[in-house]
Amino acid sequence: MDFGLTNDQKMLQDQVRKFADAELAPVAAEIDKSGEFPWANLKKMAQLGLLGVVVPEKYGGSGFDFVSLAIAIEEISRACATTGVIVAVNNSLTTFPILQFSSEEQKSKYLPLLCSGKKIGAFGLTEPDAGSDVVSLESTARLEGDHYVLNGTKRFSTNAGEAGIFIVFAYTNKEMKHKGISAFVVERDTPGFSLGNHEDLMGIRATANCELIFEDAKIPKENLIGKEGDGFKICMSTLDVSRIDIGAQAVGIAQSALDESVKYSKERKAFGQPICNFEMIQSMLAEMATQIQAARLLVYYAGYCKDTGMTRFSRESAMSKYYASDIAVDVTRKAVQIHGGYGYSKDYIVERLYRDAKILELYEGTSEIQKIVIARELIR
Ligand code: CAA
Repeated sequence: MDFGLTNDQKMLQDQVRKFADAELAPVAAEIDKSGEFPWANLKKMAQLGLLGVVVPEKYGGSGFDFVSLAIAIEEISRACATTGVIVAVNNSLTTFPILQFSSEEQKSKYLPLLCSGKKIGAFGLTEPDAGSDVVSLESTARLEGDHYVLNGTKRFSTNAGEAGIFIVFAYTNKEMKHKGISAFVVERDTPGFSLGNHEDLMGIRATANCELIFEDAKIPKENLIGKEGDGFKICMSTLDVSRIDIGAQAVGIAQSALDESVKYSKERKAFGQPICNFEMIQSMLAEMATQIQAARLLVYYAGYCKDTGMTRFSRESAMSKYYASDIAVDVTRKAVQIHGGYGYSKDYIVERLYRDAKILELYEGTSEIQKIVIARELIR
């Protein structure tokens, strides 16, 4: 058993860490406040190959493995959680389903655009009345000649306000339940497709999270991904991959909270000495470090399962997301506690980290959904 990273993975980690410290960390508080989508940094990340980490070079990607993708998302999120999820959604919720399930024509058309940052990707699954229960979605797509007519509304779509390419799920046959859902690649300028309300979120505030509205939108027939009725399995397989990256985002956020807490506890004095000398502070730091290391190992292991060709790694992916999200919320809470009143102030990074962490337990499947996935494998 080898717990070490390969030379390529170490090089990528080093490169992304340096970039994140130099370019992402300095603007993280600013974009949290302004809500401005970080296009300038995304263009720079495209140059570094971070928008198509696992995409083969022939489509404009970097050709790395899924552990490398997790390493990159962790390092980006350590500096800026908003940028972390933007990049994660582009990589695993958009390029991945195209890479894995689309035709050669779709791959050649869309992957170079997503890897180069000419277009950013978004995922349209959740609806106003359908979140955890995917089968209850109401969007429909009806084949009429050479195109599908798509109707419905999608909510909570990360990147959507700035995206050019969307993966959208709709029923082509409602009677067939999950076997009647289909997946489509939808371009931003599709007639009948418009953007609705922007979400004003508690954390990850510059992610252009937005509603998608389809009113008789005309989707070319060739933009169906796979076959009619493949949508549910495409969606679940995609989420198996993307949840690893949310686990990685959680590890990055938690690592940042620990780094800030160690630094602060060495500087801040109380009762005549640095607070890091107090055992209650040391206890929190030790717990935080151990939680992060355990989460990181679960995340890398889930990536390893994907890289080594395991056909179903839903359990490993769900465990990594569930545990890493859980500890990220706890670690950021402890970080605020260690900072005392200052931790509640926007002058300190941990205030933002605490807000950013909460979404981890909600998006790409709530923690309750991850526990269902894990428990089903135990009792089947
Ligand atoms: N891979 C491949 N196939 C899968 C699968 C997987 N991971 N999971 C299920 N399937 C298959 C099953 O084998 C079954 O196939 P058969 O009919 O051939 O037997 C079929 O799909 C139906 O499976 P289930 O009966 O398990 O389906 P379910 O309705 O009970 O749902 C669920 C399971 C786990 C609850 C699922 O609905 C789920 O994950 N829900 C959460 C959705 C979610 O994560 N939403 C977040 C959206 S993205 C987002 O957050 C926005 C963003 O921008 C970040």
